[in-house]
Amino acid sequence: MNMSDTRNDNFSALYEVTQTIGAILEPKRLLEQVLEIAMKHLDAERGFLLLTDPLKEAGFTVAAFRNFSGDDQSSALAASSSVVKKVLASGESVLTVDAATDERFEASRSIVAQRILSIICVPLKVQDLVRGALYLDSAKTRGKFNDDSLQFLTVFGNLATIALDNAQSYERLRVENDRLRVGAESAILFEGIIGQSKDWIAVLDLVRRVVDVDVSVLITGETGTGKELIARSIHAHSGRASKPFVAVNCSAIPEQLLESELFGYRKGAFTSATSDRIGLIEHAHGGTLFLDEIGQLAQPLQSKLLRVLQEREVRRVGDVENRKVDVRILAATNRDLQEEVRNGLFREDLFFRLNVVEIHLPPLRQRTEDIPLLANEFLRKAATNYKRTVKSISPQAMQLLLTHPWHGNVRELQNVIERAVVLCGEEEVREQDLQLQRVRESDLLESGLTLEEFERRLVERTLKEMKGNRTQTAETLGVSLRWLQYRLKEWEIGKE
Ligand SMILES: Nc1ncnc2c1ncn2[C@@H]1O[C@H](COP(=O)(O)OP(=O)(O)OP(=O)(O)O)[C@@H](O)[C@H]1O
Ligand SMILES: [Mg+2]
Repeated sequence: MNMSDTRNDNFSALYEVTQTIGAILEPKRLLEQVLEIAMKHLDAERGFLLLTDPLKEAGFTVAAFRNFSGDDQSSALAASSSVVKKVLASGESVLTVDAATDERFEASRSIVAQRILSIICVPLKVQDLVRGALYLDSAKTRGKFNDDSLQFLTVFGNLATIALDNAQSYERLRVENDRLRVGAESAILFEGIIGQSKDWIAVLDLVRRVVDVDVSVLITGETGTGKELIARSIHAHSGRASKPFVAVNCSAIPEQLLESELFGYRKGAFTSATSDRIGLIEHAHGGTLFLDEIGQLAQPLQSKLLRVLQEREVRRVGDVENRKVDVRILAATNRDLQEEVRNGLFREDLFFRLNVVEIHLPPLRQRTEDIPLLANEFLRKAATNYKRTVKSISPQAMQLLLTHPWHGNVRELQNVIERAVVLCGEEEVREQDLQLQRVRESDLLESGLTLEEFERRLVERTLKEMKGNRTQTAETLGVSLRWLQYRLKEWEIGKE
């Protein structure tokens, strides 16, 4: 074979290599293939491929090897380790024509003992970073490898490293994808909770991580996003599941009453206290206390709640004694609690105690992929409940569901579907059954309104939908908070 034949041969081998290894996306199989091609092309008897691995004592792991049979595998690796270590450390190749007489390997008695005659070893490099090494040897032939082999193996090694890089990135993506899929599967573990959008899976991931640690969790999100549903499911999957889940709505009960509801009272504490009574916190002993609408908790009660969180004890109204309680506290709010803290309406220390972990539930309009899943499930349930034969949602109706802003989030969607199921006489829910446009138009576009009156109605309505949250109202209407505040002042809305 003359020089130019060898070159051509090398070139076509390299071409073949890129074609083959570029298509293999699984790192382990790729490395095996790389080794096989190299050995075949250079007619080596044995070979292995190493990858640097800082976690291993040796600094590398053997990713693939060939023709090292059982027993001599480890001794052969030991024999070659001096060569390999040199290549990994220097980033330079080693070529020996006669290892037995090569003075570089005098110290390595094992190479001699193994009767290794020819060795070639090249680093696998990305830029200047040594990622591993490819080692081939022969015990039969002296001078098996020459400068040509070295040139070939060097280029080949570079190509293989690029292919490996690709395969590893792909593998990482695949693992990440699998993780998301497992997330989707375990979403099914949370019975009755629907949603497979990325954002929703992230919520469930977080839920899964907090179920078994007794930390306080603050669940935030707009109205109807499922805060209570999530609180219940944290409890149901925790070690406290067999003990009570007690939900208290802090906005629904007047302050005085709420205190005795939460803390209980002693007989005679006030006129109607004709006997001792245990409060909801004690009632939740061993279980979970869910404080809904925590942002509405009156200031004196905020201080008392802080004591419960700090001291893990309660004092009934009119009592002198403190009683130990073991409750996990979950709280929910649709307000911006941090803003309330800034405005001096909510105790900062209590905020930090409650907000050890925050689970934020994204609004439905940000996870439209979940709309068809939710809509179909609500449809199925409503059809059973109301004994209707409705089976599906028309594509036009679904389109409308996908584009509706859903300020009332999942709860609004559920109501719209239930109403549609009841109204619909067909097997398929149509656009008009949803009554989405009509509701809006009929109560907003009454004739005879001035522009100002219309504006005011729109603001009032949106403010109501947002439960009085001005920031959200301004956002929804596409106006600045200052504009809104100015207007509300002008109309004297929000003042008592
Ligand atoms: N991901 C979901 N899968 C199934 N049902 C859901 C989901 N999210 C919410 N729902 C349903 O929507 C309704 C509203 O949920 P929930 O009461 O938990 O909301 P919320 O955030 O507490 O609302 P609010 O702030 O108004 O109290 C409930 O009937 C609940 O079962
Ligand atoms: Mg709620």
